[in-house]
Amino acid sequence: MICNYLAFEGIDGSGKSSLIRSLSEILTSQHIDNKIVREPGGTKVGEGVRELLLSHEYDVDALTEALLFCSQRSQLVTEIIKPEINKGTKILSDRSAYSSVAYQGVGRGLGYETIYQLNDIAVNSYWPEKVVLLDIDPTISLSRQRVADRIGSDKVDFFKKVREGYLRLAEEFENNFLIINAEEDLSDNLQKICTWLKVENSK
Ligand code: TYD
Repeated sequence: MICNYLAFEGIDGSGKSSLIRSLSEILTSQHIDNKIVREPGGTKVGEGVRELLLSHEYDVDALTEALLFCSQRSQLVTEIIKPEINKGTKILSDRSAYSSVAYQGVGRGLGYETIYQLNDIAVNSYWPEKVVLLDIDPTISLSRQRVADRIGSDKVDFFKKVREGYLRLAEEFENNFLIINAEEDLSDNLQKICTWLKVENSK
């Protein structure tokens, strides 16, 4: 695999979780140590912050939301991601700082550059090396969703902006992003991801 820190990104309902699990199984079958982490969450502090961010109980202001995402992320990078990578483990992350640029920066309108810079401080410039972006029309992804959390239950126009944010990131960091059509067959997409990452797909 060509990187140690890989993130999966995409709007709600784009199907990241199944692809991450499948890739993790392939790596494990080849005795490649790997760990799946999720954002928000992944640490004790982070899971507490996740509750504040996603529960319908709280009314969270946009900048507060961006800062809460940063806080759980700095803990995750320090407590889990860096030590695991130093031990030789591959990190497969369900979302990352790029989610914040798309959701808070563009979706909430706090500013692409501003949220990028804020996150650069939070992760101490430790961004995922490669990103798989599952691209999908929000009207389709939202209809796939079962139970939506506070952020995931926003209107379709919000997700259209988030999608634009992701596509802008993919253009800016084109050498590090693979755009996948999330409406296509899961096993075909898994094969594309493996080819891109130079992982042998034994399935
Ligand atoms: P999650 O249950 O992980 O949803 P999904 O299965 O779509 O990944 O909830 C994460 C929610 O938080 C999702 O709506 C995206 C949002 N989010 C942000 O707005 N900014 C961020 O930085 C991150 C990591 C997530």
